[in-house]
Amino acid sequence: MADSDLFTAVQLGPYTLSNRVVMAPLTRNRATDKNVPQAMNVRYYAQRASAGLIITEATQISPQGVGYPLTPGIHNDEQVAGWRNITDAVHDKGGRIFNQLWHVGRVSHPSLQIDSALPVAPSAIKPAGDAFTYSGLQPFVEPRALDTEEIAAIVSDYQEAALKALAAGFDGVEVHAANGYLIDQFLRDGSNQRSDEYGGSYENRTRFLLEVLDAVIEVWGSDRVGVRLSPLNPFNDIHDSNPEALFSYVVQQLNSRKLAYLHVVEGAIQADVDSNTAFDMAILRRQFDGLYIANGGYTKQRANDALETDRADLISFGALYVANPDLVARFKQDAGLNQGDPATYYGGDEAGYTDYPFLE
Ligand code: PHB
Repeated sequence: MADSDLFTAVQLGPYTLSNRVVMAPLTRNRATDKNVPQAMNVRYYAQRASAGLIITEATQISPQGVGYPLTPGIHNDEQVAGWRNITDAVHDKGGRIFNQLWHVGRVSHPSLQIDSALPVAPSAIKPAGDAFTYSGLQPFVEPRALDTEEIAAIVSDYQEAALKALAAGFDGVEVHAANGYLIDQFLRDGSNQRSDEYGGSYENRTRFLLEVLDAVIEVWGSDRVGVRLSPLNPFNDIHDSNPEALFSYVVQQLNSRKLAYLHVVEGAIQADVDSNTAFDMAILRRQFDGLYIANGGYTKQRANDALETDRADLISFGALYVANPDLVARFKQDAGLNQGDPATYYGGDEAGYTDYPFLE
């Protein structure tokens, strides 16, 4: 769509979004210690409702899916009630909001699990690095490899969470298949060494993702379900011997599902991309039949360039949305941007969360 810019409307599934500025999912660790969204979270999301679409912070589908302190879930009634306050506030301001469904797999920690259970994963391969726990950083543990028979129960947890997201008043859901969490762990040969039908070939490694998508689509319909991938992001010690071939296969499989969108983290969120495995995301954009949301350090200028040259249909902004609740207005007016304070990104109170100033 060569004649579009960030401020042109776009049809996303059944919704006409008023602009192409998407608020990217951002973990902020400000739910209660029971993983329930609370009042300050309502203010935070309502402040950002002028985005064409908000994608929530990653949200656990089950107690087993938890990987960090004070992150919200969507698996019990208190959480549904907490999220309902958020979706109502965003809708009152004319916004749209999708819930990002998350299971962290092997990067959890026994201290975050019921009965101190081991985190689960496709294979018993310990990632390098540390887990975030209530008592600080602790080394990752070797996860327990899931039995084949257990996988269907996790797929059904995704479906239950999708039903709860519907009850909470969301406009859709995004399946989090990025950033080294459980679904990404199944996709990659660095973390998936299974010998059953969930490991080995691309078809087998993609099976879990597609089963999750199909389960969630049964609840929402395909046009209100998106998916997020991060082919080049090594976060959480995730790696694959051939990400270009793997993700080309994945995207072609997604086409048959007619999803609301594909959301791609185009680079790395922390470390540098390994130049031996790097490839051009334009390949995936061309292979995908539906809407493509690009993410990764975009400025207004780069975003409009990407839209003009048809490298994306929408752009999501993470860090800029931490500090600029009125990012759309600031972009429109070419106003200055607030600087975010990394010291208050994760955890804390309303300081550095709901107190960034709006334009006059
Ligand atoms: C994080 O908590 O740092 C985090 C969570 C979800 C992501 C990426 C990073 O997808």
